[in-house]
Amino acid sequence: MGIEKIEMDDCVSSILITHEEIVNKCKEIGTQITEEYKGKRPLLIGLLRGSVPFFAELIKSIKCDMEMDFMDVCSYADTHSTGVVNIIKDIKSDVSGKHIIFVEDIVDTGITLDCIINLFKKRKAASIEICTLIDKPEGRVRKNVQPKYCGFLIPNKFVVGFGLDYNQLYRNLPYIGILKEEIYRK
Ligand code: IMP
Repeated sequence: MGIEKIEMDDCVSSILITHEEIVNKCKEIGTQITEEYKGKRPLLIGLLRGSVPFFAELIKSIKCDMEMDFMDVCSYADTHSTGVVNIIKDIKSDVSGKHIIFVEDIVDTGITLDCIINLFKKRKAASIEICTLIDKPEGRVRKNVQPKYCGFLIPNKFVVGFGLDYNQLYRNLPYIGILKEEIYRK
């Protein structure tokens, strides 16, 4: 067998995490969730839209009973976080007494998840954890937001692919790459 050749798209300056590494990490996290939530029937809530590819890959390896739902929230006005989360689409399920796992593509400032977690505490969830594909801890403003399950820690770079976008583009890349500066400086 030869060395796998990975095609890189023009929009990225380098590939940070390959598709194979993402798939392997999803298996690892899915197995851990299976062991830790056996008999608890967790409700996994994906935050639209970026979490969709990660969510789909992750649940293939969750072997205990689980439920899934999706939420669309926005805490940004232009490029600045307002600190107030607007719910564009809420979940359908009743949360009270349930074990919630929020599934995110990336945690940066933590403002979005901090607001949602406070909301779900009011809704009387039995437990709340965060599962994120990527964590950028250098950007954290809400220090209390600590993902229990994290795929990869990365430096403070703007990344795209596997759900992550820049102006709604590049979510379909199979890997995570660093966006070329010339694209966002245009
Ligand atoms: P925060 O943790 O409240 O700052 O929000 C995280 C959200 O910011 C993610 O769900 C993304 O939509 C967006 N985001 C942060 N960093 C990046 C990045 O490097 N690439 C793409 N989106 C990002």
